[in-house]
Amino acid sequence: MKGVILAGGNGTRLMPLTHVTNKSLLPVYDRPMIYYPLELMAAAGIDEVMIVTGGKTCGDMIRVLNDGSQFGLKSLYYTVQEKAGGISQALSLAESFAGGEEIFVMLGDNLIFGHNAAETVRNFAVQPVGAKVFLQPVADPERFGIAELREHRILSIEEKPRHPKSNLAVTGLYLYDRSVFDKIRTLKPSARGELEVTDLNKRYLEAGELGYEMLSGDWIDAGTFDSMLEASKMAKRHADNNTISRHSSLAVAA
Ligand code: DAU
Repeated sequence: MKGVILAGGNGTRLMPLTHVTNKSLLPVYDRPMIYYPLELMAAAGIDEVMIVTGGKTCGDMIRVLNDGSQFGLKSLYYTVQEKAGGISQALSLAESFAGGEEIFVMLGDNLIFGHNAAETVRNFAVQPVGAKVFLQPVADPERFGIAELREHRILSIEEKPRHPKSNLAVTGLYLYDRSVFDKIRTLKPSARGELEVTDLNKRYLEAGELGYEMLSGDWIDAGTFDSMLEASKMAKRHADNNTISRHSSLAVAA
């Protein structure tokens, strides 16, 4: 399975920080934001990744990530989204890279800790038909794509609903089969002029091909000032916990 990280868009919610560089390159605790999705992909065993980046900032992205070898990747590809046409439009740019394989997609401003991504990939590879989304309860459902469940199936998904039908956010981690690019071609721009990822997921839902898992572990969308600050605290907590467990296993080994 190949991986795609979407880091285009204008980052307007984080102005003026995003005047000179890409939102996904801003610091979250001790590293650039995009390291987190990239590290998750590498941990899932994905070693061929494409980054979709914005035209103005593609040079910065390449300088920071280089050939991806520091993450253990076999190859790292880049493509440029000239205008922020939406998440699905950004994903459409990865069609030739995907080469007919199923893909593991992450938003460049999403951080996930403590989720077994390798198992997620293994499960999907056994039956790579349709799409899978990952849900987590949130306190502010108006900010996200929201899924409504009935009898362990997704009944509806809405993007940033004014009157949310549940508190289950669709996180920025998606698994898609090879039909994803044909489905993107059927999408129409939303009221804000974007090809929405929620509309893409709705195509799978209409076809009866949208599965879900509850996301275990911690997740945060670092796309606002407050959530970026929270993301740094979350990243530090996980880094500290890892150091403590590494130290205690060294002590046991000694
Ligand atoms: O974080 C999860 C949420 O992400 C989902 O629940 C929503 O359904 C989904 O629409 C998305 O909502 P956001 O409002 O947070 O999306 P945002 O516009 O911040 O875009 C998220 C990332 O996607 C962004 O960091 C870079 C990438 N992107 C976005 C746009 C609009 C692109 O690569 N190109 C784009 O044109």
